[in-house]
Amino acid sequence: MELHKTIALFFLLCYLISTTVVVASTGCFTSACSKDEPLIRFPFRLRNYQSLDCGYPGFNLFCDALNRTIIRLPGSPGEFTIEAINYSTQELWLNDRNNCLPQLLLNLNLSSSPFLGVYYQDFTLFNCSFDHTTLKLNPIGCLSGSNYTVYATSSMRGFDLLSKSDCKSIGTLPVPVQWPFFEQVVSSDLSGDILLTWDNPDCRICASRGGRCSLKRTAFNREIICENSRGIAFPRGARYAIIVGAGVPAMLFLIGLLCFISGRIRSCRRRAQPVLEFSSAVSPQPIVFTGLDGPTIESYPKTILGESRRLPKPDDNICPICLAEYQPKETLRTIPECLHCFHADCIDEWLRLNASCPVCRNSPMCVHGTV
Ligand SMILES: *[C@@H]1O[C@H](CO)[C@@H](O)[C@H](O)[C@H]1NC(C)=O
Ligand SMILES: *[C@@H]1O[C@H](CO)[C@@H](O)[C@H](O)[C@H]1NC(C)=O
Ligand SMILES: *[C@@H]1O[C@H](CO)[C@@H](O)[C@H](O)[C@H]1NC(C)=O
Ligand SMILES: *[C@@H]1O[C@H](CO)[C@@H](O)[C@H](O)[C@H]1NC(C)=O
Ligand SMILES: *[C@@H]1O[C@H](CO)[C@@H](O)[C@H](O)[C@H]1NC(C)=O
Repeated sequence: MELHKTIALFFLLCYLISTTVVVASTGCFTSACSKDEPLIRFPFRLRNYQSLDCGYPGFNLFCDALNRTIIRLPGSPGEFTIEAINYSTQELWLNDRNNCLPQLLLNLNLSSSPFLGVYYQDFTLFNCSFDHTTLKLNPIGCLSGSNYTVYATSSMRGFDLLSKSDCKSIGTLPVPVQWPFFEQVVSSDLSGDILLTWDNPDCRICASRGGRCSLKRTAFNREIICENSRGIAFPRGARYAIIVGAGVPAMLFLIGLLCFISGRIRSCRRRAQPVLEFSSAVSPQPIVFTGLDGPTIESYPKTILGESRRLPKPDDNICPICLAEYQPKETLRTIPECLHCFHADCIDEWLRLNASCPVCRNSPMCVHGTV
């Protein structure tokens, strides 16, 4: 009898864990074109090394014969080498595969790519009919020919100098430079890496919490999930579902299992009264969560966080349910009994299933008389 129950419990536990922890690690490994090249992981993907699901559309890279990491940007000709990637700041340093970055900059159009510049500085290019060595300027060698020299300048002085000389303006380019220049550059050969960033997918919050984004493909769509260091994935907003779906029942089952196995220990029964009820009704009864009704939930105060991000409890700046930091303009809801506050969409879901504060277990239902 006791053994049967134990076996039944074991299988139920396995079933619950297998059905509720649906989001598992996607099995995408960090890769690189060589040991000196940037590490490639989501949202980037190395073609031929990482599967399609490991990257985000528009972030496909490949390795060339010299083991360099190459990206093609839609809408711009040419191929760029990836010099560095900072995944936490979402910054990307690029150069030209053929060592003539100004040539690519002349035709750079990022509007159909996922990337944009962080800082831009306007450079005007001049095509001069002779080599102005006396001007002590820095020519763009790869754009210059035997009887003409090309210069780029971002300063008034350089502009004046070159327009007064026998030079023709080719055009003015917004160059995605690496830092905001407070100083204007009289002339540059524009060979330094350009700095780009991306806004979508935005994994900066995930990265700042030590997590890593990855792509989870479901039957109908794809969603970005934030994987924690143990490799278990928690999409924002689904975290509570896992707590409710797997954590609580699994814990109850485990405690119940222990209670059953050591049936003589009475203190266990006494201390864990709900567990006992739960385990004795283990076979056919589903777990019934009694949450709050919509109007009760709506009666709890809601606030839209301002730019100053001032909270009812000043040090609680992280939502305990989804573990993300509150951002300006997000809607928060406070549980009046204990003043704990949460993202409204997170706590609303929780309260529909559970009539108590997830942090302190204060039960608003007693106060409000709902079951
Ligand atoms: C590229 O990398 C492979 C393996 O890492 C190495 O065998 C090969 O020599 C490298 N090629 C160049 C051009 O560095
Ligand atoms: C990314 O940038 C941040 C902030 O500038 C810096 O602290 C961090 O070390 C950088 N990471 C890498 C891998 O360079
Ligand atoms: C960049 O490309 C878009 C279309 O992809 C086009 O509408 C836009 O005019 C282009 N910008 C420049 C500066 O050529
Ligand atoms: C500069 O002018 C020369 C002719 O003087 C021309 O052949 C060359 O293509 C021009 N270079 C650029 C980058 O416009
Ligand atoms: C530049 O030199 C080429 C020959 O190398 C010649 O055909 C061309 O006319 C020259 N252009 C100018 C602007 O002098």
